[in-house]
Amino acid sequence: MSGLAIAADPYVHFKREAGEYAVRFVESGMVVGLGTGSTAIHAVRRLASLLSEGALRDVVGFATSTATLHEAEALGIPLLTEDLPREIDITIDGADEVDPAFNVIKGGGGALLREKIVAQASRRLVIVVDERKLSPQLGVAWPVPIEIMRYGYASQVRFLEALGGQVDLRLTADGQPFVTDNGNWIVDVHFGPIHDLDDLARQLEGRAGIVEHGLFLHLATDLVVAGVDGIRYTPRP
Ligand code: A5P
Repeated sequence: MSGLAIAADPYVHFKREAGEYAVRFVESGMVVGLGTGSTAIHAVRRLASLLSEGALRDVVGFATSTATLHEAEALGIPLLTEDLPREIDITIDGADEVDPAFNVIKGGGGALLREKIVAQASRRLVIVVDERKLSPQLGVAWPVPIEIMRYGYASQVRFLEALGGQVDLRLTADGQPFVTDNGNWIVDVHFGPIHDLDDLARQLEGRAGIVEHGLFLHLATDLVVAGVDGIRYTPRP
């Protein structure tokens, strides 16, 4: 049965392998950042299983999106829901594109602002991906999701175009602007290969109305990649 599932879509299987693998780094008593997306959700589910079996104890989670919050609640994971009262020990989250230095693009699921808040508060950020996400240079395979205020939208588009980006407002299936958990819009900006990540990040961060961008630079500490040759774990070089 599982062989048939793998044959139908191997990447569904790889996402699960990567997500579940990373939970080995969680220890009893930890505060755990719970990532968002179709890979990170497997870490959430595995964590819930280990807690219910008693293999892990006294773990509390902090969710990076309302979607993850609802799933974690349904699975019975104890959660911090209001604020971050202390440092997060470890966060397990997915990514859209990962470069050899572990810089990543995130935000394909629209949760980038909360994901970055949690990532920056985490001592350890374990990125879990299938092997399609690996890239020689960020921007080659994926646009940069950027969360912007609706107010001043057209001005942000012009600013991002002046930086060399091609801007797509993210839409829902029924053609309406996608609205984030924080009430903002997302634009997916195609820059092509990004030669100076830090410079681009600085320019985006200096612009009023840009709430956050999906370049997660110098944050990931560990990488778990699942693919046809199995699972590869690498601590940051
Ligand atoms: C959510 O906003 C994203 O950052 C996801 O973590 C990222 O898009 C990876 O998602 P998948 O694991 O579903 O590919």
